Amino acid sequence: MRQAGRSLPEYRAARAGTAMLDSCLDPALASELTLQPVRRHGVDAGIFFSDIVVPLRLVGVDVEIKPGVGPVIADPVRTADDVARLRDLGPLTAERLAPVAEGVALTVAALGTTPLIGFAGAPFTLAAYLVEGGPSRDHLAARTLMHADPAVWDDLLTWAADVTGTFLRAQVEAGTSAAQLFDSWAGSLSLADYEARVAPASARALGHVRDLGVRTVHFGTGTSELLVAMRDVGADVVGVDHRLPLDEAVRRLGGTTPVQGNIDPALLFAPWPVLEAHVRDVLARGAGAPGHVVNLGHGVPPETDPDVLTRVVRLVHDVEVGEA
Ligand code: CP3
Repeated sequence: MRQAGRSLPEYRAARAGTAMLDSCLDPALASELTLQPVRRHGVDAGIFFSDIVVPLRLVGVDVEIKPGVGPVIADPVRTADDVARLRDLGPLTAERLAPVAEGVALTVAALGTTPLIGFAGAPFTLAAYLVEGGPSRDHLAARTLMHADPAVWDDLLTWAADVTGTFLRAQVEAGTSAAQLFDSWAGSLSLADYEARVAPASARALGHVRDLGVRTVHFGTGTSELLVAMRDVGADVVGVDHRLPLDEAVRRLGGTTPVQGNIDPALLFAPWPVLEAHVRDVLARGAGAPGHVVNLGHGVPPETDPDVLTRVVRLVHDVEVGEA
């Protein structure tokens, strides 16, 4: 999840003085920031240090990540001319992607047998930032455009699918063992809008890595009603946030789809016995799935005590081997 390293003093020291997106595009620094939480917590996989808006920056969109705010786009995209301007930026070439490929390759080499997860943003979540110009609660402008001008919307989502899919493919080709698509804001959509106006673009994005043979994970927040549709765009594993108990998610998915989730980040601040009981509950509810990737239901809050995260990882490993 995003911000996994942000609670670490070594992360803050390594990042000091470097803007977020510049850190992502410095291969040695991105690799070191990926390795920090793996070293510290002993997790079973790393997630590449990057961001969903990195491919937008690489293709030439004026975007930055403002601390405490999130991605901010200088010129929001609202009209057919705006989408044409995006297309004029040209494709995301291997040359533009070189810092990402290099960062992944360095990280895979350093991780040895520990797998690395690559990721990208889903077209809807990227479009939400592009249309709104920054973070937003309801994504009103994006959802308006979807209905007011469906042709422009479809063109924008198709562009976003190819840019983000190319970014994902570059990571897998450089050595990641899995690929995750984050549709963080899809929860603001009805199932009907998701299926008609968003799912085809997400399928197109995942289509960019289909022939590479890696497993894909598809995650969103507030997406309890969209889980089946999110699997059906072509994902192998469905991520679940803290809002839905995992056994209910497994049931909705028909019992045949591996799930990822869904420790509530809020409980990282509860007394240990409360957190421990919650983690055990999550593991028990996930046991009915054909596979369970244990993680948080959303990002690690920056003020999290890193020692609590290490303790959670130990507990999960102990339960897995039947020692607790
Ligand atoms: O934690 C990690 O290092 C994993 C890599 C990762 C980041 N972003 C790094 C990051 C991942 C997987 C992401 C994905 C991401 N980025 C998503 C999808 C997943 C999710 O959490 O919903 C989204 C929506 C974004 C966009 C974004 N980037 C937001 C909303 C923010 C938070 C802004 C803030 O300060 O509150 C970011 C910044 C960001 N991305 C940070 C990191 C480590 C924090 C940078 C910092 O301030 O040090």
